Amino acid sequence: MDSWFTYLKQGLSRKLPKDRIIGKENYSSIKTNLKNLRPFISRHWRKGLLGSILIFFTSLLGFPQPLIFRYLVDNVILSRQLELLVGVILLLLGIALAEKLASLLQQFYFARFEQEVTLDIQHDLLERALHFPKSFFDHNETGYLMHRLSSDVQGVRWFFSSTIVYIITNFLRFVGGISLLFYLEWRLAIMVSVMLPGLWFSVRYFSGKIHALSHQGMEQQAIVASRLQESLSSVSLIKAFSSEFRAVRCLMSELKTAFQISLERTSVSSVANLAISSMPSIARTMVLALGAYWIIQGQWTLGSLLAFQAYLGYVFGPAQFLATTSLQFQNAVAALERISALFDIVPEENVGTGITVERLKGEIEFKNVSFSYDGYNQVLKDISFHVYPGEHVAIVGPSGVGKTTLLSLILCFYKPSSGEIYFDGRPASDYEVGSLRRRIGYVSQDPLLISGNIMQNLKYGNPDATQEQVIWAAMAAGIHQFIQSLPAGYETEIGEKGVKLSQGQKQRLSIARALVKEPDVLVLDEPSSALDRLTEKSLFQILPTLIRNKTLFVVSNRLSAIKEVHKILVLNENTIVATGTHQSLIESNPYYRKFVVTAD
Ligand SMILES: Nc1ncnc2c1ncn2[C@@H]1O[C@H](COP(=O)(O)OP(=O)(O)O)[C@@H](O)[C@H]1O
Ligand SMILES: [Mg+2]
Repeated sequence: MDSWFTYLKQGLSRKLPKDRIIGKENYSSIKTNLKNLRPFISRHWRKGLLGSILIFFTSLLGFPQPLIFRYLVDNVILSRQLELLVGVILLLLGIALAEKLASLLQQFYFARFEQEVTLDIQHDLLERALHFPKSFFDHNETGYLMHRLSSDVQGVRWFFSSTIVYIITNFLRFVGGISLLFYLEWRLAIMVSVMLPGLWFSVRYFSGKIHALSHQGMEQQAIVASRLQESLSSVSLIKAFSSEFRAVRCLMSELKTAFQISLERTSVSSVANLAISSMPSIARTMVLALGAYWIIQGQWTLGSLLAFQAYLGYVFGPAQFLATTSLQFQNAVAALERISALFDIVPEENVGTGITVERLKGEIEFKNVSFSYDGYNQVLKDISFHVYPGEHVAIVGPSGVGKTTLLSLILCFYKPSSGEIYFDGRPASDYEVGSLRRRIGYVSQDPLLISGNIMQNLKYGNPDATQEQVIWAAMAAGIHQFIQSLPAGYETEIGEKGVKLSQGQKQRLSIARALVKEPDVLVLDEPSSALDRLTEKSLFQILPTLIRNKTLFVVSNRLSAIKEVHKILVLNENTIVATGTHQSLIESNPYYRKFVVTAD
């Protein structure tokens, strides 16, 4: 076990971590980041103001009490005025009650203000996150993002908590206290004031350290969340490779780092608090020493010394509050910086702008389209083809050649590095991207279903679909009979809490879901990879006739899927090497002949 001093030393030497999202360790200024909070606060400021007024009101109520006490002692008790006693007691009672009531309401209003602003930020952030470009999600782990989208928001609550109002009231008390000290004895007041810069500098020094440690702590927590999510979602892999202990060890090592940072933070904070709280004690002792000397010399009175000592509390109480708060502030700043990094991400292009598509004719053209994920390695090179409305197109090629990537470009998940994609004769960038995607039915290579029942899943892209439409689509995808054989039919729950489906059943559900959407363009990525030959054959016997007038892209190397299509694009080495029908390619293209024969 390391000693306290080791933790302190390590804690003091921590630097700001590199933010995974912005890819660097320097953030925008606090002023710029605070601007991100402005819209949320301005939406709810009234509730915050109500809470603030109540705090000021509560502090004001504290002021007359000593005066009333003086009145009680001098004018009631010492003057033996019994008839005034009831009134004074009632007044004190009334003030005490009003104070308690105001404080109760203030807590409620501030909690509500804080809650509503937080909820608003959370809402905005989630909406933004789902509009981040697809590439953003390719580069960031799910667990990590989950943590950043939820936990970091809690850290910024500080900015709209009642602490802010207490900072103002304490600052006012501090200024008032200092003035009183100067009024009482300016020489001692100067001596006390000399201590304040010391306090200021130690706060500044420790603030920087706490800032870095807060960042480190939050980042490490997000890493823990990411590892945990990864382990839980790949539990079959862990079991199959009997790597449970290794997985736990890996998780524990990240958790230990988190604990280490937390302990370092505690050590640094405790030293910071020691520095902050020792200043007032030193000041008090010095005042006592000098005051006693002056009294002995006959230059000062005992009463003045006692009063001065009492008023020191008026200065150091708030000063200490402000100093400790500014350390807490560092945590909130770190959270704000992390949230702001998310606010700064440029959303997908053409969300909410451009032409809204009601229907597509289904004409799609690629003109010299090249694409690279990372800017270096070309995945697709100079792809050109023209597909007319209602044409059925197959994309064929070896694994890793870029077939899925090509479909992702049709869905506008990414923008081509060069060249242009046209829908119905217009560049893709002219359209509102959501409305364009609404007209495209997509079956991904790895079909994803949501929790809920089968009906809800099938209606995912078209919640208004009728029962008949859904059954029609399920029949077309060859899954209707299976669904009917389930105990609750279309109402059967699937997912974590329900029936488990095979990969092939998922694929067919996913095809049916795309059909229920009644798209104008259907995009299928190896839709039959998990189906047996017979099922596959019957699927491709029915499907093409059912969607005769719709444009179809199907990625597949299976003969039954590509035999009947109007056009086949053969991909090899990142580009289209041949185009034609199955018959013409078999006759003219040796590569295709070899590929399809060996593939099937
Ligand atoms: N999200 C991604 N980020 C970076 N590279 C990717 C991504 N997806 C695929 N790739 C790369 O692009 C190439 C083509 O992949 P893909 O389109 O999935 O091939 P196919 O579907 O033909 O098997 C591969 O080399 C793969 O490593
Ligand atoms: Mg693929």
